[in-house]
Amino acid sequence: MQSRIKIAFVSAEVYPFSKVGGLGDVAGALPTELAVLGAEIMVITPCYGSINHSDFDIQESPYRFTVKLGNEAIECGLSRWQSPEHPNFRVYFIENEHYFGSRGVYNDHKGISYDDNVKRFLLFSRAALEAFKVLNWIPDIIHCNDNHCATIPVYLKNRSVDYSYIWNTKTLLTLHNIAYQGIVKMDQWELFNLPDDLFYPTAPMEWYGQINPLKAGILMADAVSTVSPTHAEEIRKSQELSAGLKGVLASTGKAVWGILNGVDYSEWDPQTDIYITKPYSLKTVADKRFNKIALLNDVGIDQAMVNKPLISMVTRLVEQKGIPLLIEALERLLALDLAILILGSGEPDYERSLSAFAERFPGRLKIDFGYNNPLSHKIMAGCDIFLMPSRYEPCGITQMVAFKYGTVPLVHQTGGLADTVVRWDGQSGNGFLFELYSADDLIQSVLEAIFVYSDKNQWRRIMLNGMAADFSWQQSAKQYMELYRSLIDK
Ligand code: ADP
Ligand code: GLC
Repeated sequence: MQSRIKIAFVSAEVYPFSKVGGLGDVAGALPTELAVLGAEIMVITPCYGSINHSDFDIQESPYRFTVKLGNEAIECGLSRWQSPEHPNFRVYFIENEHYFGSRGVYNDHKGISYDDNVKRFLLFSRAALEAFKVLNWIPDIIHCNDNHCATIPVYLKNRSVDYSYIWNTKTLLTLHNIAYQGIVKMDQWELFNLPDDLFYPTAPMEWYGQINPLKAGILMADAVSTVSPTHAEEIRKSQELSAGLKGVLASTGKAVWGILNGVDYSEWDPQTDIYITKPYSLKTVADKRFNKIALLNDVGIDQAMVNKPLISMVTRLVEQKGIPLLIEALERLLALDLAILILGSGEPDYERSLSAFAERFPGRLKIDFGYNNPLSHKIMAGCDIFLMPSRYEPCGITQMVAFKYGTVPLVHQTGGLADTVVRWDGQSGNGFLFELYSADDLIQSVLEAIFVYSDKNQWRRIMLNGMAADFSWQQSAKQYMELYRSLIDK
């Protein structure tokens, strides 16, 4: 019998404790699925101010330790959440009032990112390594996610003496978003306590005179993955889509694994969703209409639009998500007989442009600038078309959620969107895709979708095709297990 594999899953966001985007969703769902498959799982994440211990039954622990950053010794604590369902699954929170307890995840309450984020997440990464020591729990695999913990493989591969107890552990670095690399000016170098030969020109940590943790993580991790097969190809082939790291990826000689994300159906299922007006399923899909009526009412879109297509987005308002394309297309989209609802928060310039449109089209265009989980559920249940004009999308979770709610995705054909959305051809398919990243192509695709929408039978078939699909985490978790095992056997 194979022994229980020990996996440490290190992530800056973990739903339901913290979440900014899909990373939180992944870190909230994948470890549970790995625990179901029999792995012994420890998730490690910072304890932000927004995490209320009593809401989640998080227990204090007696462990305290110091983390060295440069010449500073920073004191940290640990608290713990034990899964009630799975004895082999727990979450450890890194406690430090100044760096985490008094702050949000990446940004302050005005949406401005903290200027010491690189230091905060370096502290987090090294605190995770210290935690293994004080807990006397040495994982077989450390699964690192994104730039925030990309230095962990660097300390291990570099045989940093402080961490000799964990030199034999293997590392996987998953790239959820390669464009965020955690780059910081060279004057921060001493915080890393790494030998200078890692920072000479062209050395692993060096990047055009600055420090690039993600680049070094890619070079030093035992394996690298991203969150869809198509995006794995894209970052290997395109300088633009790899945000400049194509050559670095190639130089490792390692494969880039592409493992598709899943959906947590215990959270996202219109049959059991606690936030929506009327539950429905494949068999009672006509009841989706009640959710549309309630949604229009809640957000203040004219009820006269109830039989017209309602297009929605739930998104971070950043360039990646195609917001400039949307803004370019909006005037022409609103000339069509449809309504648009956007829930998003992000860059103030985008918020200003979108507000100006919303003022001109009251009753047909509504924008909610906030982060609102209950509303995001109501939107999934109440709208007809879910728009994702992303310039690039490593995976995207919301299009897969939309399927389950009978909401038809209309997406730019890129990354995980290309892997999950199949163009409706009159007989089969589950959504609409446009190939070129252009406002004209986006509008063309919307025209195609509203034409099909006017044929109730066809529309119903597209909806049912999406609802019948299974994007649960089980398959992906099995692929991660195979990958972990292959690293251990190496
Ligand atoms: P990304 O991680 O790039 O933002 P994903 O599609 O993988 O994109 O995941 C986004 C997640 O964040 C989804 O669960 C989505 O519902 C959620 N989300 C994004 N913006 C908001 C918002 N303004 N309010 C509520 N949830 C949001
Ligand atoms: C990133 C990507 C998104 C992906 C998510 C979770 O934020 O932008 O496409 O779904 O990570 O992997």
